[in-house]
Amino acid sequence: MKKLTLFSLFLAAVVIILGAYTRLTDAGLGCPDWPGCYGNLTVPLSDDKVNAANAAYPERPVEAFKAWNEMIHRYFAGTLGLCIAAIAFIAFRQRKQGTPFKLPLLLLGLVTFQAALGMWTVTLNLLPVVVMGHLLGGFSVLSCLFLLYLRLREADTSTNSVSQNSVSQNSVSQEPVSKDSAGPVASPSVAGLSRMKTFALFGVGVLVIQIALGGWTSANYAALACTDMPICEEGWQSRLDFAGAFSVPEAENYEFGAHDYGERATMHIVHRAGALITFSYLLALGLTLFFKQGASLQLKRVSAIMIGCLFAQVALGVSNVVFALPLAVAVLHNAFAAILLLSLLWIVFSLIKHTSTAPTYDSSVNAARHTTLSSHALPQALSKATGGLHG
Ligand code: HEM
Repeated sequence: MKKLTLFSLFLAAVVIILGAYTRLTDAGLGCPDWPGCYGNLTVPLSDDKVNAANAAYPERPVEAFKAWNEMIHRYFAGTLGLCIAAIAFIAFRQRKQGTPFKLPLLLLGLVTFQAALGMWTVTLNLLPVVVMGHLLGGFSVLSCLFLLYLRLREADTSTNSVSQNSVSQNSVSQEPVSKDSAGPVASPSVAGLSRMKTFALFGVGVLVIQIALGGWTSANYAALACTDMPICEEGWQSRLDFAGAFSVPEAENYEFGAHDYGERATMHIVHRAGALITFSYLLALGLTLFFKQGASLQLKRVSAIMIGCLFAQVALGVSNVVFALPLAVAVLHNAFAAILLLSLLWIVFSLIKHTSTAPTYDSSVNAARHTTLSSHALPQALSKATGGLHG
């Protein structure tokens, strides 16, 4: 299941990138129906099929390039859906062996909802709320797959380390143990990392809001509403319209946007302001963790990765503006938002592991120590070490 999860994670990343590419090549309505394309399983290519398609959708004649973009995205997304269904099925069947199953079931619900959003994207003519929701849904699927992968990997590591500890008494004797032997003495560094957990969790909230603001900017075609740096074209203050920017105007079709210039400029400016807040917050978090005493080497590495992604993301955002939204830069801006989110989730996961499973690990070590006294100790230790994974 770990391999299938890793494969699905890779597939989800591909689907997200293909989705951004589809939107940025204005191919979101490349196939005006769903799930097929002009009623076909593939893009209509023969003259007969193209004529029939054009007759059925006269307002949207077939453009093979756009239709292929859309369909390739759907094929990959469909395959991802099947993989997630398989993960959920396996996880549910293996739940009694301690395989996490709540996260796979959540994933199945998410990917199903994501398919519905994909359908509404087309049938509601790129309604911005749906387009932004579809982007957030894709990021949620990717995030849950990543967390599932980390948990499965962690379960393997815990099991291995417990079995190693059961045969190595030396490693056991190095652990600080509390007087009553119920668990370890919490070290000050662990207490410090526990505070960092809240800091990092709040950072996830900040980043998700910033991603939603970016999605809103792109779904409303507001990328080029401000081409001046650092804020917007002269006189931007008088054009600010927050109520208009965050509402959805009535329109038949939202392709190329339905908001007026002031509203688009406002959403763009808010995304830039959000970038400043997100950058400052995550940089502070990353640097604090990097120099934190007691933080593991892995935590420091992931913090360094996150800081790198943060700089890259801001550079890509600025390049979007300065170079008038080149396709590759816009797709990369989307991809780096995803990588940034994953690196932050990895940090949160590591902090939770440090602060909550550190005692679990240690108490399993304590239990392992008692193997000399009791033959029941090893099964107990194993079950404690993987206890956090029962769903
Ligand atoms: C931490 C910082 C940032 C994050 C997490 C972020 C995230 C995002 C996301 C997720 C999107 C939607 C992409 C899509 O739909 O394909 C987006 C769009 C956009 N962002 Fe950012 N962004 C950040 C910083 C910036 C900065 C500093 C700028 C410019 C100064 C910027 C300019 C833009 C523009 C112009 C778009 C619209 C692109 C389009 O229409 O495809 N971003 N951002």
